[in-house]
Amino acid sequence: MEEQLSAIFARFRGTAGEVIPLLQKTQEELGFLPEEAMRRIGDFAGVPFSKVYGVATFYTMFRFTPVGKYHVCVCRGTACHVRGADQILEHVERELGISENETTGDGEFSLETVACIGCCALAPCITVNSDVHGRLTSKKASQVLKKARGAALKEEEDGK
Ligand code: FES
Repeated sequence: MEEQLSAIFARFRGTAGEVIPLLQKTQEELGFLPEEAMRRIGDFAGVPFSKVYGVATFYTMFRFTPVGKYHVCVCRGTACHVRGADQILEHVERELGISENETTGDGEFSLETVACIGCCALAPCITVNSDVHGRLTSKKASQVLKKARGAALKEEEDGK
């Protein structure tokens, strides 16, 4: 983490106004915001940890726990909501055995909801990492998860 933070800090001046972009870059790099990273950002930007933490927890885009290898986001925007996003979410939760904002014990899957993926015409939608899956039904959602599980197993077998 130390090396990654140093590389990030090298691109900033270290001012209080840079806290949000520093948090964003750190999350991009580490996948989430560990407490130690937020402390380091505070020291670098000259802002108390409590303020950095306050800013980070104010915005829903920031995460404080590691995401799974397959990060599933179920869209709950209006278009997806009217087309059954709640049922899709319940189904995905059942399939993965976790609730929203949780990660499976093996670290393979994490689940989150988002306000809009930007593909409303394909509602209801989910994303798995950067792949969008639209016009979902429970059956299609199961297939998407099964495919990701299969890919995870294959990688494990291949020793990746
Ligand atoms: S509301 Fe779901 S993609 Fe826009």
